Amino acid sequence: MLELANLEVVYHAVVLVLKGVSLEVPDGGIVALLGPNGAGKTTTLRAITGLLDVHHGKVTKGKVSWGGRSLLDQRPDVIVRGGIAQVMEGRRILADLTVEENLRAGAYSRDRAGTRADLERCYARFPILAERRHQQAGYLSGGEQQMLAISRALIARPRLLLLDEPSLGLAPKLQHEVARLIAEINAEGVGILLVEQNAAMALDLAHRGYILENGKVVLDGTAAELRADKDIREFYLGLGGAGARSYREVKLYRRRKRWLS
Ligand SMILES: Nc1ncnc2c1ncn2[C@@H]1O[C@H](COP(=O)(O)OP(=O)(O)O)[C@@H](O)[C@H]1O
Ligand SMILES: [Mg+2]
Repeated sequence: MLELANLEVVYHAVVLVLKGVSLEVPDGGIVALLGPNGAGKTTTLRAITGLLDVHHGKVTKGKVSWGGRSLLDQRPDVIVRGGIAQVMEGRRILADLTVEENLRAGAYSRDRAGTRADLERCYARFPILAERRHQQAGYLSGGEQQMLAISRALIARPRLLLLDEPSLGLAPKLQHEVARLIAEINAEGVGILLVEQNAAMALDLAHRGYILENGKVVLDGTAAELRADKDIREFYLGLGGAGARSYREVKLYRRRKRWLS
C-alpha cells in the first residue's frame, strides 16, 4: 500500500503548495486524484517518486510510505526498483530516439532477458509500436506517444503506476483507448494512482477518489460516492454548470442560494 500522511511540500523554500495531504492507494487498486489546474496533483506525484529536488521542491512535513517503508530521502531509481513507476504529464517521450530506445530507457533496472521478454509483450499489445520500433518516437501521433510512455513505464514491471493526466490533449476515441489500457493494466494486478482533469473517465475506472484543491484534500470517497455527489456532478462532471471554478465554490454558491431562498 502507498500511504501519504499530512504531506506538506514547499517550492523554493517559500511557497507552500501541499498543505497536509493524506491519501492511500491499496495494492492493486485504482485511485483517482482529481482537481483543477494548480491544485498540487503533479506535486503530489513528484513527492512520491522523489522528483521534487529537480524542481526546487521539498517535503517539509508528513510521510510517504510504500509497503510500510518511507520513500522520503530515497533516490528516484531506488523508488522505481522498489516497484513504483510514473508516466509524467505531457508524455515525456524522447522524441529523437527510436520507439525501441524509448522502451529500453524504461528498462534500466531490469536484466537483459527480462527486458527482451517485456519488449515482446509490449509489441504484442501494441502492434503499432512494433511496426515503428526503429522509427523516431517524435513521429508518433499523440495517442501513440501516450501508449509509448505508458509502455515504457510498464517495462520496469511496477506494482504501482502513477499516471499524470494520461488523457490530456487526446481525442475522445483515444481517451477511451487509454482508459481501456488502464483497466487492462490494473487487471494484471498493478495498482494505479490516476491524476486526471477528466473526472468522468477517472471515476469510471477508479475504486476510490480524492479531490484536491489548493493543496488540500477537500473530499474523498468511493468512486460511486463521488459520482453521486451533487457538487461534484456540477463542477467536475459538468452536469449543471454553475460556472464555478472549484468544488468549494460550488459549495458556497449552493449555501448562498439556500440562504437567499
Ligand atoms: N517548480 C515549481 N516552482 C514553484 N512553484 C511550482 C513549481 N511547480 C509547481 N508549482 C506551483 O505549485 C502549485 C501546484 O502545481 P502542480 O502540482 O503542478 O498542480 P496540478 O498538477 O494540480 O496542476 C501551482 O501553484 C504551481 O504554480
Ligand atoms: Mg499537473
